[in-house]
Amino acid sequence: MKKVDVDKLQSHELNQKIYGDEEISQDFLDSIDEFGILVPLKVKPDNTIISGHRRWKGAKKLGLDKVPVETITFSSKLAEREAILTYNKQRDKTYSQKMKEAGEWEDIEEEKAKERQEKLGKSHGKDPSGQLSQRGRSKDKIAQKVKMGSGRTYDRAKTVWDEAKKGDEVAKKQVEKIDKGKESIHGAYKKIKNKERTEKIKSNKKDNVRKFKTKNFNDIHSLYDEEFQNVDIDNNSIDHIITDPPYGQDFFNLWEDLATFADNKLKENGFLITYAGNIHIPKYHQFLGQKLDYYWTLALIHNGPNQRISYTAVQSGYKPILVYQKPPMNKPKTDVSDIVQGSGREKDHHKWQQGLDELSQIIKDFTEPNDLICDPMAGSGTTIIASIKNNRRAMGIEKQDKHFQAMKDRLMEYKKSE
Ligand SMILES: C[S@@+](CC[C@H](N)C(=O)[O-])C[C@H]1O[C@@H](n2cnc3c(N)ncnc32)[C@H](O)[C@@H]1O
Repeated sequence: MKKVDVDKLQSHELNQKIYGDEEISQDFLDSIDEFGILVPLKVKPDNTIISGHRRWKGAKKLGLDKVPVETITFSSKLAEREAILTYNKQRDKTYSQKMKEAGEWEDIEEEKAKERQEKLGKSHGKDPSGQLSQRGRSKDKIAQKVKMGSGRTYDRAKTVWDEAKKGDEVAKKQVEKIDKGKESIHGAYKKIKNKERTEKIKSNKKDNVRKFKTKNFNDIHSLYDEEFQNVDIDNNSIDHIITDPPYGQDFFNLWEDLATFADNKLKENGFLITYAGNIHIPKYHQFLGQKLDYYWTLALIHNGPNQRISYTAVQSGYKPILVYQKPPMNKPKTDVSDIVQGSGREKDHHKWQQGLDELSQIIKDFTEPNDLICDPMAGSGTTIIASIKNNRRAMGIEKQDKHFQAMKDRLMEYKKSE
């Protein structure tokens, strides 16, 4: 181990870029004062510090002449950058420092992947599938390296960070708050997303939504080619909602949003009638029950053979249709049956298309002529057709272009055949 004049050492630009001008704590200074610098600084042959910037700054503050150093060399610039980050792995860091580190790790990993790919390209030809799975794993890897929990947390942290870098004022404030420990990454992410949503709604108001209205369709209130969460509809303006959301657990957020949508947009006594899968029934009740009152469950009897649910080894002969109501409670004018006879597989417009006749029965039972019925996940528009067929007004929302188009085409076809 040799000793080098404090003044001959220089800081590394990457260290400055990531960690900035950090305050040296009094405790740290006291410990150098009492014990000296026990662990030598790691420096390059030109005296650029790789590890030990704080020890160096502390020594300067205390007026020490020399500090112990160990010289190291690197086979490449990449290895040098990696070493700076690795030596700093253990120290406490702010969110901003972690994100700067993460950006650097992403560059490093990308360059390494490129090098691997070049080698592979030379020996075996390209391996795009390997590259893809590598990319999938890299988020988790970076999250681990900068100690930020899971890849999902890192993803959210990055959204906030990127927005702030683009100059978004809300995001910049959130970054400051996270650094000071006054906001969590998930909390900040939600604020950014809410803001985006509000902005989208505002721009929708300027009529960015592709609405579909024609003179021939007085009974079609409107069709929106959009996510239902973003559509600007007056509160308390819809008589009933009849819909069929996706059922899997990846879509639980949609059920939560559906409950909020129904709570806001339905008139009092309005029904929310939704097809459901049997596997996650308790979850749907949890989401819907937070906002609306449970009314009943209808059994849609399969027209045709039972459906085997391998998850529970049940031969199922029905599908539940959940009925909720925006309070106060109000009953349909005449008694209704809770058995709905399925009208069979009609799948020519949408993979998950529901039957027209079964919907007609539900519409006749639970709604009144001229009521406005909304299907916020309308698919190919079966609810819309069943509504207008029964002299109700209809509003459809569908986020996927191809289904929205199919719904429009289907309506035109229906009008022609009338
Ligand atoms: C099960 S399918 C509905 C099928 C429909 N009942 C029919 O008979 O054609 C659910 C539909 O919801 C749409 N969807 C999912 N999330 C949505 C959202 N946030 N806003 C609007 N539509 C959405 C999907 O694109 C899909 O077409």
